[in-house]
Amino acid sequence: MYVCVCNAVTDRDIKKAANDGVSTFQHLRQELNVATCCGRCETCAKNILEDAHAKAGIA
Ligand code: FES
Repeated sequence: MYVCVCNAVTDRDIKKAANDGVSTFQHLRQELNVATCCGRCETCAKNILEDAHAKAGIA
């Protein structure tokens, strides 16, 4: 599903970035441009990043 409509970023994109070593939301923003326009996706994107880290056993 699309998490960031402004920049066409999906939950799969965020999970892949987490698995590729993106550890902070700031880094995720730099990599995918998520939450750089209207910002409405920020909370959802953060939650998906945290979930991906939890599932991968990354703190
Ligand atoms: S939906 Fe992500 S910046 Fe607008």
